[in-house]
Amino acid sequence: LVLVLDFGGQYNQLIARRVREAHVYSEMISYKTPVEEIKARNPKGIIFSGGPASVNQEGAPVVDKAIYQLGIPIFGICYGMQLMTAQLGGKVIHPEASEYGKALLYVDQASGLWEGLEGERQCWMSHGDSVAELPEGFAIAAHTHHTPVAAMMDEKRHFYGVQFHPEVKHTPDGQTMLKHFLFDICGCHGDWTMESFIDAQVKAIREKVGERQVLCALSGGVDSSVAAVLVHKAIGDQLTCVFVDHGFMRKNEPEQVKKIFAEQFHLNLICVDAKERFMAKVGGVSDPETKRIGIGNEFIRLFEDEARKIGEIDFLVQGTLYPDIVESGTDTAETIKSHHNVGGLPEDMQFQLIEPLNMLFKDEVREVGAELGIPDEIVWRQPFPGPGLAIRILGEITVEKLDILREADAIIVEEIRNAGLYKEVWQSFAVLPTIKSVGVMGDGRTYEYPIVVRAVSSEDAMTADWARLPYDLLEKISTRIVNEVKGVNRIVYDITSKPPGTIEWE
Ligand code: XMP
Repeated sequence: LVLVLDFGGQYNQLIARRVREAHVYSEMISYKTPVEEIKARNPKGIIFSGGPASVNQEGAPVVDKAIYQLGIPIFGICYGMQLMTAQLGGKVIHPEASEYGKALLYVDQASGLWEGLEGERQCWMSHGDSVAELPEGFAIAAHTHHTPVAAMMDEKRHFYGVQFHPEVKHTPDGQTMLKHFLFDICGCHGDWTMESFIDAQVKAIREKVGERQVLCALSGGVDSSVAAVLVHKAIGDQLTCVFVDHGFMRKNEPEQVKKIFAEQFHLNLICVDAKERFMAKVGGVSDPETKRIGIGNEFIRLFEDEARKIGEIDFLVQGTLYPDIVESGTDTAETIKSHHNVGGLPEDMQFQLIEPLNMLFKDEVREVGAELGIPDEIVWRQPFPGPGLAIRILGEITVEKLDILREADAIIVEEIRNAGLYKEVWQSFAVLPTIKSVGVMGDGRTYEYPIVVRAVSSEDAMTADWARLPYDLLEKISTRIVNEVKGVNRIVYDITSKPPGTIEWE
């Protein structure tokens, strides 16, 4: 285990991700975590992340200095290095010029994390403050034109710091440095795999649940499917799955879920037709957050009802992923949207949660799914938000709009599949804004809805870029939707990345 202390940098979870890519298990935790707690977890190494604060600023985030006495190697990145400097007796200043973007790194001492990396290397900088005086015991390991201390080390105590960002792709040797830290300095073995993850989770779930009963919200998406099959592997028929058809599903989805999970996987599956119930609750709602929270609450109430029918149920399984948790606001990250499976939970909820995937990124979940023998059809399914089509109809939801959206969506997915791009694009779907525009069809004037086509590429949904779909494909999608879906007379393509947009429109 390697712990990443989070000081609020925007791309901090990339650090944990890079560590895991080296097959070392890593978690990101708040910088406020007490040192005793950190020590009790027995990490082989600790990484201090970047962050927006300045160490010289009043109230800047700090760690208990006892952390430097644990004898555990520490790697400070950006703010993390500055903090280490300030706390160990060096000096951090705010020079006139900041340094942002690509920079040339001159490695002065090719040992430690920089073993084999002599000479000039590219790195990615993003900082206002700089280290001006090294703490005792440290030496400069690398510099850039602007920054005399771009990397430093105390090889005796195993403390390392870099001013640049080794976790981003623009630092091509970043992963090599990180691996030196993990394997040469911390002595990690690099044997964390999805197989070992599954074994550990199965054991943990069995211990947690004992003889008790568990309910799972199965949506048929990758996350809840993998979570359900994983928990089923651990406790078999103590698990009951509930599939709620809230009426905001894609075309043929409910039938498919029933077929795969009840017939193929033999899960205990209850299907609830709750179309009317959800429509009554959010049909007239236009505000995106109210919609999301409303759907989340209704979900839980429904499960409580189902649970009551079954009898004594103590746990609820959810396929919550790591990015859901981070985006819903942790100690340091700001709330961007309330994801229905996190922020939507009612406070008086009667279940304890089992969220076996809540430390994983999407691609890791897919690996777990494949390892569990779940068919590609599910494992490679593009993500679909819990609130479903409800948040892809902007404004009030009606049955008519849902039908239009569902048909348009099916055409987009079909054409993307036919073009062999389904796995390559992260998500591809339709959005229906509640506006109408004028068109002409045959000899007549039309006044109908537009459909927005949204297709993005992404690694983990934290950032995304609009997919450069071939014009021919866009043309086919456009022609088919307008011809085949009644009520639509115009197609537009969303060319916004995230940020500044989000993937979904609500
Ligand atoms: P945004 O729109 O925030 O979406 O860029 C990021 C990813 O999360 C999915 N998403 C959700 N998933 N419950 C979910 O399970 C939700 O409430 C939810 N909202 C967004 C979205 O489809 C994208 O993949």
